[in-house]
Amino acid sequence: MKCWVVSAGLGFVLTGAGAAFGADEMALAQSKNCLACHTVNAKVVGPSFKEVAAKYAGQKDAASLLASKIMSGGGGVWGPIPMPANLQVDAAEAKRLADWILTLK
Ligand code: HEC
Repeated sequence: MKCWVVSAGLGFVLTGAGAAFGADEMALAQSKNCLACHTVNAKVVGPSFKEVAAKYAGQKDAASLLASKIMSGGGGVWGPIPMPANLQVDAAEAKRLADWILTLK
């Protein structure tokens, strides 16, 4: 008699997939100190993330442009204050933050 292996262990429910995009990114922004100078809604030292999203809406290379700006810093786009390089952010994190910022409305 054959003994069929039932893959009951694969019946787990994928949790997290339905969670709102953004909660993890907000925590990442917090942990990387971005929120010392930025908020989602209001200009502080740097522009609000919603202003950034609006400015780059429809620009195809915006995510990679912003990801490299997040890592290397830079200035002259939003005003006289430059953003220092954020050396605590790696390329993957910078891309994640940039993608998230660009979704804000
Ligand atoms: C010390 C303050 C400071 C910190 C910390 C900081 N920023 Fe900024 N950020 C600025 C300023 C000031 C500007 C505007 C620079 C300019 O005019 O080009 C800016 C600009 C930006 C922009 C828009 C860039 C552009 O070219 O339009 C993005 C996106 C951004 N910051 C994301 C981040 C993220 C993500 C972090 C955390 C890893 C972070 N910033 C940390 C001050 C800061």
